[in-house]
Amino acid sequence: MGTLRQNIAVDLGSSGIRICVEKKGLVIDEPSVVAVKRSGEVNAIGSMARNIEGKTDEDDITMVRPVKKGTISDYTVAVNMIGYFLDEAIKNPVRRLIKPDVITAVHCDTTNVGRRATERALREAGAGRIFLIEAPLAAAIGSNLDVSAPNGKLVVCLGAEITDIAVVSYDDIVSATSVNVGGRTFDEAVKTYFRREYKMVLGDRTAEKIKNEFVCVYRDVRVQPFDVSAFELSGRLPTDRQIQPEDMIKPLSDVAMPIIEGISKVLENTPPELVSDIHQRGIMLTGGLSKLAGLDIFISKGTGIDTVIAEKPEYCVVNGCMKLLNSWSNERKNEIMNN
Ligand SMILES: Nc1ncnc2c1ncn2[C@@H]1O[C@H](COP(=O)(O)OP(=O)(O)OP(=O)(O)O)[C@@H](O)[C@H]1O
Ligand SMILES: [Mg+2]
Repeated sequence: MGTLRQNIAVDLGSSGIRICVEKKGLVIDEPSVVAVKRSGEVNAIGSMARNIEGKTDEDDITMVRPVKKGTISDYTVAVNMIGYFLDEAIKNPVRRLIKPDVITAVHCDTTNVGRRATERALREAGAGRIFLIEAPLAAAIGSNLDVSAPNGKLVVCLGAEITDIAVVSYDDIVSATSVNVGGRTFDEAVKTYFRREYKMVLGDRTAEKIKNEFVCVYRDVRVQPFDVSAFELSGRLPTDRQIQPEDMIKPLSDVAMPIIEGISKVLENTPPELVSDIHQRGIMLTGGLSKLAGLDIFISKGTGIDTVIAEKPEYCVVNGCMKLLNSWSNERKNEIMNN
């Protein structure tokens, strides 16, 4: 029976849901958003919901993001979304009859209540045995660090709403913290900057595009001026502006400061010999936000430690979860479940 069960890894992020299936790899990579009708009925899920965003009557359909700061905030909608994507991930109806073993990552500061909500939602959505692992440990495995070695490794998971920072050694987390900063915090800073400086109102998507494609948090990383067109605060006139990336470095680096403080705090709580390993090896950056231009240099300058951006950083957590689950025998899984 154990061998017929599929291994599945789920990364339930504030901005996206990613699912890997054993022997198949990544099969789901979708925004974690659901369009819900006024009656409560689900209208569309994932990219289909995102495609209708802003195009429907807001009184009739609302966009629900069931995961906030990496924790389930709307249980019923989350169960719907996870169930839908698990069905998509396991297309074979025969395999669907046998509940899969599912592993997922939780943030370092997730409470026991939050952990139980995640487990319960996965179970209701069709998972069999459920395993939870701390996100930075998963990200360390997914970025190919040797987590079982006794030396210290510092991993930072830069997500959409939260940043996890942890020192990993001997298959375990030595010290960790979560900081309430993520890609969306930078999107908001972009919006605030335009509102304050130019009286321009930007939508979420425009702000995110500016952050991802045109600006930087460290000088000289991006220097190309870019054009932005949006409505004025008065709501009457569309207006155009040319912006220098340099002008936005200060407001964006202010937002990034708590990440440096979080890293310092974690290092303070780490034994000195592991800190010295980290100084030698550098900090591993994972998660989608690690692609923010200049953030690697900003973190390196702020901490005095080199940084490395993982390959495909947004997939480190789901890949690490998958690798770990696949490495466990059925006996090992039973042992973990019984603990
Ligand atoms: N090129 C880029 N430059 C800057 N930010 C980026 C880039 N690409 C993606 N991002 C940002 O990365 C964030 C998504 O990262 P990720 O998928 O790791 O988050 P998540 O797992 O959904 O969120 P969380 O872990 O906080 O729950 C978004 O805010 C997105 O805008
Ligand atoms: Mg994440």
